[in-house]
Amino acid sequence: AACGGGDADPAAYPESEITFVVPFAAGGPTDTVTRLIAEPMSKELGQQVVVQNVEGAGGTIAAGQVADEDGDGYQVLVHHIGMSTAPGLYPDLAYDPLEDFKTVGLVTDVPMTIVARPDFEPETLEELIAYVEENADTVTLANAGVGAASQLCGLLIEQATGVDLTEVPYDGTGPALTDLAGGQVDFMCDQTTNTVTQLQAEKIKGYAVTTPERIDALPDLPTTAEAGLPDVEVGVWHGLYVPADTPDEIVQKLTDALKVALADQNVIDKFADLGTTPVAEDQVTPEAHTAKLEEQIDLWTPIIEESGVTGG
Ligand code: MLT
Repeated sequence: AACGGGDADPAAYPESEITFVVPFAAGGPTDTVTRLIAEPMSKELGQQVVVQNVEGAGGTIAAGQVADEDGDGYQVLVHHIGMSTAPGLYPDLAYDPLEDFKTVGLVTDVPMTIVARPDFEPETLEELIAYVEENADTVTLANAGVGAASQLCGLLIEQATGVDLTEVPYDGTGPALTDLAGGQVDFMCDQTTNTVTQLQAEKIKGYAVTTPERIDALPDLPTTAEAGLPDVEVGVWHGLYVPADTPDEIVQKLTDALKVALADQNVIDKFADLGTTPVAEDQVTPEAHTAKLEEQIDLWTPIIEESGVTGG
């Protein structure tokens, strides 16, 4: 981060509108989670919370932008598992996820689903695996860029099947899902916060959910382990970040407001409709969030390095 917390008095925070920066396109999964928590957090903080979508480079543009902001609590990054994959994917990453931010708290852990355009030939995950192996040259896999959860999940599918597919990157899986439903791209792996509604309406085809257990929102969808891809298991954890020089007093106020938001019945219900839940209350702390970030960097970096995939 640049210059310091400035002259602002942490005790008076927040004195004006707060911006929540979403690193992907509007209408997608990160945007959806952010808007759901922004409303009760705004109420709790007594200031307007504005959501700003800063797309590009798989979420790393937004993270780099917030890392460079003043640590005054007015620019908050809402990011997911991509915070832990970016260091492995980008050798010249403009920020250090652990050094350049303070963590505020974890938000939710969203299951992913493997989904396809409605008229895509394979009907089951088993058929999908056989199909991509036979048609590796023509099958297209959508994602939200190198650093996105969809890209990580796609990479796991490619590693598990041993095929190298043509990836079609979008600014977020919101627009990717629109193209998928429209038949412009074959399949993708995306969060339930984006796919549940479309799956329930049968606008897209679903093969599996990437969690160890089936989920209530999509009870008929098998898990990847049940359906033949046990190594494709991933939960898209989300957290809030502020620049590293933000005073702890401000971080604490954001953590407290996040706790209130995640206990809000409307948030709990909306999350449930979308296949997820708020994290347990003891996870809504900077300590739990930092521990998760460290653990996930250690988990994903060697897997990414082995794949040889790089975002530049
Ligand atoms: C989004 O909000 O578009 C997604 O989180 C993208 C992704 O990570 O796949």
